[in-house]
Amino acid sequence: LEILLLNGPNLNLLGTREPEVYGADTLDDIVSELTSLAADRGRTLRHVQSNVEGELVSALHEARTVAAGVVFNPGAYTHTSIALRDAISAIELPVVETHLSNVHAREEFRHTSMLSAVCLGVIGGFGRDSYRLALDALITHLDA
Ligand code: DQA
Repeated sequence: LEILLLNGPNLNLLGTREPEVYGADTLDDIVSELTSLAADRGRTLRHVQSNVEGELVSALHEARTVAAGVVFNPGAYTHTSIALRDAISAIELPVVETHLSNVHAREEFRHTSMLSAVCLGVIGGFGRDSYRLALDALITHLDA
């Protein structure tokens, strides 16, 4: 079973989007790194990015039959989306909520996550390394 790397709104602009907050690396850079890290541990990574909430819901539904777990940066939907929370509950797969920035050090509206309570765990604040750490934690969990 593969691992789904799922990225939400505006993450397609990584590298050019507020680089002082999100870093200079592009999403392609991060996807290539994660693809090879997953391969090193015998796992196939599939990547989906969407700016559309419903497409993220559908990607989670599709993961149910093909994925063992999900590394998910939901972007701003983290703070608003009951639909994504319900999808995560519905699929019964381990999902690691992942953020480049430390959302707790930022605006008040980023301090609340609709999703954390139904995720396996949460990693944030380490820039592109957040993704690496999330993947590592997910695979370690799956291998246990
Ligand atoms: C983010 C944090 C969110 O608050 C923000 O809306 C994003 C990116 C992060 O990776 O730090 O789009 O998920």
